[in-house]
Amino acid sequence: MSASARITAPTPSDIRARKGGDPLVSLTAYTTPMAQMMDDHVDIVLVGDSVGMVLHGLPDTLGVTMDMMCLHGAAVKRGLARAMMVVDMPFGSYEESPEQAFRNAARLMRETGAAAVKLEGGVAMADTIRFLTARSIPVMAHIGLTPQAINTLGGYKVQGRGEDRDRVLDDAKAVEKAGAFAVVLEKVPASLADDITDQVAIPTIGIGASAGCDGQILVVDDMLGLFTAFKPKFAKRYATLGADGGAAIAAYATEVRARSFPAPEHVFADEGPTT
Ligand code: KIV
Repeated sequence: MSASARITAPTPSDIRARKGGDPLVSLTAYTTPMAQMMDDHVDIVLVGDSVGMVLHGLPDTLGVTMDMMCLHGAAVKRGLARAMMVVDMPFGSYEESPEQAFRNAARLMRETGAAAVKLEGGVAMADTIRFLTARSIPVMAHIGLTPQAINTLGGYKVQGRGEDRDRVLDDAKAVEKAGAFAVVLEKVPASLADDITDQVAIPTIGIGASAGCDGQILVVDDMLGLFTAFKPKFAKRYATLGADGGAAIAAYATEVRARSFPAPEHVFADEGPTT
């Protein structure tokens, strides 16, 4: 079913049931207006910890906090009626123990209205995913390039090439077995993404993966051309809003300096309409 034909948001079980069906469409969002803009068109909205980089100017996602995720999650939720919302668990909020993960995941769901959380990690996070899903917290897993681990992965490199292939495949099977309802595959070779998609029974959501995945996700500020600090190969630009915004601001500045703004239609007379 297309996103616009739906009246209510899908649940994690609905998303899981879409395995092998029409591709799932997903984007990140961090604010109410952005959520409203995409609600008719996407199945899943992820409040990603990429918010730290694209909205807060952080150098990576490691500085993102639970408070930030709660604030942005609640804002996004206010802009959604049809799409399912998933919120990222930030670095340091779940790795210590399943109990720590539960406490923070429950807070994210309670304070934002999210239907599920996403966390990074495969085999190493399987026990935590099992613990959460057994306690009513649906989990979307994230494997391959896991940006919270850039310091141990050695940067934003493609994962799962050559001898590393089996490690990523094992991660996919581990999160499936642990009960994740879907798995994000980031920056892995297309042939590996296709193999994983064939071998696991949960939907794969690709980013820098393969058109053969069960769905795709992009960072909305990347695809709209709003975040231009760097451009990953997989981040196709569908618009140039950053450049357009810069040109609009330059035009405003020129008009203010020339006293051509505000024009008569932008100011109020002594009498007449009050709005
Ligand atoms: O934080 C994020 O935006 C993400 C997507 C890139 C999947 O995790």
